[in-house]
Amino acid sequence: MSVDLSVHLGRLRLKNPIATASGTFGYGLEFAEFVDVGSLGAISVKGLSLRACLGNPPPRICETDAGMLNAIGLQNVGIEEFLSEKLPKLHALGATVLANVWGDTEAEYRAVVERIGDDPRVAAVELNVSCPNVVKGGMVFGNDPAALHALVAAVRPATRLPLVVKLSPNVTDVVTAAKAAVDGGADVLSLINTLVGLSIDVETREPKIGFTTGGLSGPAIRPVALRMVWEVRKALPNVPIFGIGGIETVEHVLEFLIAGANAVQVGTANFRDPGVCGRLVRDLALWCERHGVARVADLSGTLKTRPRPEKAYA
Ligand SMILES: Cc1cc2nc3c(=O)[nH]c(=O)nc-3n(C[C@H](O)[C@H](O)[C@H](O)COP(=O)(O)O)c2cc1C
Repeated sequence: MSVDLSVHLGRLRLKNPIATASGTFGYGLEFAEFVDVGSLGAISVKGLSLRACLGNPPPRICETDAGMLNAIGLQNVGIEEFLSEKLPKLHALGATVLANVWGDTEAEYRAVVERIGDDPRVAAVELNVSCPNVVKGGMVFGNDPAALHALVAAVRPATRLPLVVKLSPNVTDVVTAAKAAVDGGADVLSLINTLVGLSIDVETREPKIGFTTGGLSGPAIRPVALRMVWEVRKALPNVPIFGIGGIETVEHVLEFLIAGANAVQVGTANFRDPGVCGRLVRDLALWCERHGVARVADLSGTLKTRPRPEKAYA
């Protein structure tokens, strides 16, 4: 049986639903010896800004139980070097590129997206409004629905490419944020970014991360991410979703699809196994074949929930 792995996230068409998550796969090129980057659904590149950025001073990462904390601080080569040096090579490798973008101000976000414009080598722009590891920008936008709406609306006219908005889990109600992004002009939502965390070295009584707090990622966050994908799918049934958070195996991919995602992005798992995404594409095809699923897109949003019972007293 041949399985159709292709998925449509609105106008964004992917050959399969396995993408890499921004900041965990460099600019894709670094991973080319481990995986055929052209065989993946998409590659979300490291967050791009107007000028090159050095990020935070070390230490910037530490391991935690079932995950890691990072406060890289959005280190990147800047949009100009990306367009002139990285993108042509990625394009030559046949990669489907999501240009992940950030800025300190609304004007900076817009300027980066204007620079990308309608570049046909870019499949979509992904706005990171949810980075917890910078003092300005990032989460400042993602955690305030009015600021988020204004940012997305300001950026929207700068490109005709599909606009993906990456939401923060560090909010009370992710659905409010999702609606603000969609009302502002987002075509697709990706969720989730990292959860703000703290890890302490008890000998020195110092935080293990130089920035004090860091973003928690990896298997530890998967149930939270799944819950948020499910909530957003219920509230906005027609808005395509990238599910992100702690994905390592094909079962995890399936969990996100069933919860309501149309595709997934894999992050921290790339550090442990740089070839993991290629394996997930193959494993997904095999799983579908074994289970008689002809189109992977049909799995999306098929969660069977039970009615929640009334409270029972003895
Ligand atoms: C080291 C590191 C760097 C990251 N950098 C970015 C970034 O530049 N832009 C962004 O939108 N998300 C960034 N993220 C968040 C990931 O893309 C992803 O949303 C998060 O790690 C959850 O997925 P995971 O549990 O599979 O890692 C970063 C995550 C890590 C671990």
